[in-house]
Amino acid sequence: MNNKYFIQTYGCQMNLHESEKLAGMLKQAGYVACETPEQAGIIIYVTCCIRENAEQKVYGHLGALKPYKMKNRDVIVAVGGCMTQQEGAAQKLHSTFPFVDIIFGTHNLCEFMSLLEKKRNQKKKVIEITEKWSESECIPMARNSYPNAWVNVIYGCNNFCTYCIVPYVRGREKSRKIADVVSEVKELIAQGYKEITLLGQNVNSYGNDILGEEGAGDFADLLDAICEQVKGDYRLRFMSNHPKDLTERLVMAMARNKNVCHLIHLPLQSGSNKVLKEMNRRYTREQYLEKVALIKKHMPDCAISTDVMVGFPGESESDYEDTLDIMQRVNFSAAFMFVYSPREGTPAAKRPDQIDAEISKARIMKMVALQNARTAEYSKTYEGKTIQILCEDYDKKRDLYMGRDEYGRMGYFTSDKNEIGNFVNIKVGKTNGISLYGEKI
Ligand code: 5AD
Ligand code: SF4
Repeated sequence: MNNKYFIQTYGCQMNLHESEKLAGMLKQAGYVACETPEQAGIIIYVTCCIRENAEQKVYGHLGALKPYKMKNRDVIVAVGGCMTQQEGAAQKLHSTFPFVDIIFGTHNLCEFMSLLEKKRNQKKKVIEITEKWSESECIPMARNSYPNAWVNVIYGCNNFCTYCIVPYVRGREKSRKIADVVSEVKELIAQGYKEITLLGQNVNSYGNDILGEEGAGDFADLLDAICEQVKGDYRLRFMSNHPKDLTERLVMAMARNKNVCHLIHLPLQSGSNKVLKEMNRRYTREQYLEKVALIKKHMPDCAISTDVMVGFPGESESDYEDTLDIMQRVNFSAAFMFVYSPREGTPAAKRPDQIDAEISKARIMKMVALQNARTAEYSKTYEGKTIQILCEDYDKKRDLYMGRDEYGRMGYFTSDKNEIGNFVNIKVGKTNGISLYGEKI
C-alpha cells in the first residue's frame, strides 16, 4: 500500500490549521507526507467557499486529478473543508467527480481516520457531513508553520453578515476553555515556538457562549491568562476582530501585555453607512473611526489592517468613495481587498441590484492602486530605521531570509547561518512596496 499523503489547502489560516490536524492524525497512523498528488496514496483537499473563485480552483484541481485516479484506482481522494458543508454541495461533488472516495464536513475533521478505515473496507463512497460540532481537538497535530503556531480559540460565527457563507458552513460560536488554550500555548512555547496566533472568525465574541461556566472569561481575560501563565520571549497575535465587538477592555489588555503584538486586523468591509447597514455589520463609519481612535489612544504605535469589499449589491459610486475615504483616513498598514462574490443561500445573493462586473473591476483596480501607493509610502518611512523581525522563512533562489516585525511588515536580509525562529535586528536600507530590505546588525 502507498502510505504517502498529500494535502492541498485552500483559503484561510483556519483551514491551514485544519490541515495540520489532518496531517497529525495521518502521521500518527504511520503515513508520510509527500510533495505532489501524483506521489500520494491519499490525496486530501481542504476546501474554501468564501468567494466563487475559491470554489473554481478546487473544481479545476479535482478535474486535473481524474486521469491519475483513473490509472491508480487504489489511491484515495478525499474532499473536506467549507465547500462540502454547503447545502447540496456533497451531492454536487458526488455527481461531478464520481471518483472522489470520501467527502467530509467541517465538523467531521477529527473523525477522518475512521472514515478512511470505512472507505478501505467498502467499495462505495463515504460521505459524512454533520451539522453538530464535536468538542474534541484532534491531537496530535503536525504543525508546519514554525516558528508560528496557530491555536483555535473560538469556532463558528453568529454574525450573519448578509454576503457571507461562513456562518452556514462553520456553525454557531463555540469557545474553548481558557485553561485548555493556555495549556496548549504553554506546551508550544516549551517546544520552541516563537509566535502564537489565536484564531477565530470573531475573537471578540470569545467566551460569550460559555459565560458563567467555571473558568470562563472574555477575550481580554484570555490574553491576560496566557501572558500571566506563559512566560518567555514570544509574540502573541490574533485574528479576526469585529468592529462592533472590539472593546476598550481588550485594547487595554493588548497594551499592558508585552507579548501581544500591536497589530489589529479590523475588517471594515465598507465605508458607507447604507452599505454597512445592508451588510448587517451593525456599526456605522463613525463608530468604526471611534474604534480606531480608541486603539490609537492606548497604543499610538498600533498598526491596523483590514478587509474591504467593492461591488456589494446596490453599491453606488458615492458608497464606494466613502470606503476609499476611510481607507485614506485610517491609513491601514495592510488591506485585503475583494470583489463581492454572490454566495448561494446568503441574503445578498438574492438581491436584484447586483453590480456589473466591469464596474466592480474598475473599483477594485483603483482601490488596489491607491492602497499600494500608500503602503509603499509607509514603507519608505522605515528607511534607516532598525527593526526587530522574527525570521520565518528562507528564499533559496534569492538567498534571503524573511521575517516580520511586530506590526506585520515583511523584512528581508542575508545571513550565513540558519536564522529561522530567531529574533533578528535589521537596519532597513531600500524598500519596495510592502517589503523592507535590511542588513542584520
Ligand atoms: N464576497 C467577497 N468577499 C467576501 N468576504 C466574505 N464573504 C465574501 C463574499 N461573498 C471577505 C470579507 C471577509 C474576508 C475573509 O472575506 O472581507 O472579511
Ligand atoms: Fe462572515 Fe461576518 Fe462572520 Fe466574518 S463576522 S465570518 S464576515 S458572517
